[in-house]
Amino acid sequence: MRYAHITGWGKYLPQRVMTNDDLARIVETSDAWIRERTGIVERHIAGESETTASMAIAAAMEALNVAGVSGGQLDLIVVATATPEHIFPSTACFVQDALGADRAGAFDLSAACAGFVYGLSVAADAIKAGSADTALVIGAETLSRIVNWDDRSTCVLFGDGAGAVVLQARDQPGGVLSTLLRADGSGSELLMLPAGGSKIPITPQVLEQRLNTIKMNGREVYRFASRVIERATREVMHKAGWTAEQVDLFVPHQANLRIIESAARSLNIPMERVFCNIQHYGNTSAASIPIALAEAAAAGRLRPNDRVVMVGFGGGLTWAAAAVQWSELGTPSRSRRVFSRIGYQWASLRSRARRVLRHVEDRLFGTADTAPQNGKREKDPVRPHAERPLETNSAAQPAQKTPER
Ligand code: ACO
Repeated sequence: MRYAHITGWGKYLPQRVMTNDDLARIVETSDAWIRERTGIVERHIAGESETTASMAIAAAMEALNVAGVSGGQLDLIVVATATPEHIFPSTACFVQDALGADRAGAFDLSAACAGFVYGLSVAADAIKAGSADTALVIGAETLSRIVNWDDRSTCVLFGDGAGAVVLQARDQPGGVLSTLLRADGSGSELLMLPAGGSKIPITPQVLEQRLNTIKMNGREVYRFASRVIERATREVMHKAGWTAEQVDLFVPHQANLRIIESAARSLNIPMERVFCNIQHYGNTSAASIPIALAEAAAAGRLRPNDRVVMVGFGGGLTWAAAAVQWSELGTPSRSRRVFSRIGYQWASLRSRARRVLRHVEDRLFGTADTAPQNGKREKDPVRPHAERPLETNSAAQPAQKTPER
C-alpha cells in the first residue's frame, strides 16, 4: 500500500510589515479594535517586485531543500491561490518553469482559504493512486492587491505570503491519513471578488465601484466558520480513527483568533496544542496553513509520528480538513543545497533559451496563418489591434497600489 508523506516544508513572507497603527493612519480603525476583534497585530505586504508566483517559488525552493528533492523529480505541482498571477496561464506554470520541473503537471486550485487543504488532498490521492510519486503543494497569496484599502472592515484582515509542502510516496503507514472536502455555493456572495472574471469584466465603471476588490459579509462568514470547523475536524479525526485527546497539533486556518479559540474550546483541544501565528501575518488565505506548518516544524512543535489536524474554510463557501501523521525526515546535505541552486540557475537559463528560440522561430517561419507571403508579413488575426506583445512576465504590474506607510 502507498502512503503520501509530508517530507518538506517552506514559507516565504515579504519583508515589509504593516502594523495596526500603520493601518490606523489609512482608515478609521485602531490597534485596540483590530487586536480585540481579530487577534491580528501586524501583517506582511508584498513589495512591488513580489508576486504570488515569486513568493510561491521561494517557499517551494525551501520545501524542496528540506525534502532533499530536486525540481526535476516532481510529478505534480498544485498552487492553491485566490490571487493568481493571471486568470491563465496558471501560477503553477511559473513555479514549474522556475524549478525546472520538466516532468511535472502543474495547475492552480481555486478554493479560497480552504485551497491548501484541497490541494493537499488532491496531491495525496494522486500519490496513493500511483499516478505521482512526488508532489509539491503550495498556498500563495498577494491579497494586498485585491483589498479595498478604503474599506476598514476588510483591509485590516489580510496579509501576503506563501507556504509549501513536498509530498512523497512511501510504503510505511503515515502521512496524509484522511481528508474531507466540502462546499456550499449558496453562500457564494458572502465572500467574493466580484469582477475580473468572465461574468463582470473590468471596465472603468467596475473600477469606480471597486468591484475588483474583496467583498465580505464578516458576521455571516464568522458564523459559517465557527459552525464548520468543529464539524469538519471531528469528521476527519473520526476517519483517521483519532480522538481529540490524541491530536498533538491542531493547525486551523488563521482568519480570526476568536474563531480559533472558540473552535478549540468546542473540540476540547487546549490552546497549547493549537498553532496560532495570526498575530504576525493576518489572514493569508490559502497560504496560512502551510506557513503555520513550516513555522511549527521549525519551532520543534512537530515531531515524527505526531498527529496533526488542519482545517481550512473560506470563500465559495468551501471548507476542508486533513489528518496527517508527521513523518520522519532525512537530513539534506549541504552539497545538496548547492546542487539545487545550480539546478535553478540552469532551469532559468534553459527557460530563457526556450523563449529566445520561440522568438527566433516566430521571426523566421511565422505561424501557419501569419507566415510571410512574398516576403510580406500579415497582421496577426488573433490580435489585430495588438501593437506590442502581451506582457507575460510573472512579475506583472499590480492591479492597484498598496498604500505607503
Ligand atoms: N475598525 C474599527 N471598527 C470597525 C472595523 C475596523 N477595522 N471594522 C468594522 N468596524 C465596526 C463596524 O462598522 C461595526 O460598527 P457598527 O456596530 O457601528 O456598525 C462594528 O465595528 C462591528 O462590526 P462587525 O462586523 O460586527 O464586527 P465583528 O466583531 O463581526 O468583526 C470581523 C468583524 C473581524 C470581520 C469578523 O466578522 C470576522 O472575522 N469574520 C470572519 C472573516 C473570515 O473568517 N474570513 C475567512 C475567509 S477569508 C477568505 O476566504 C479570502
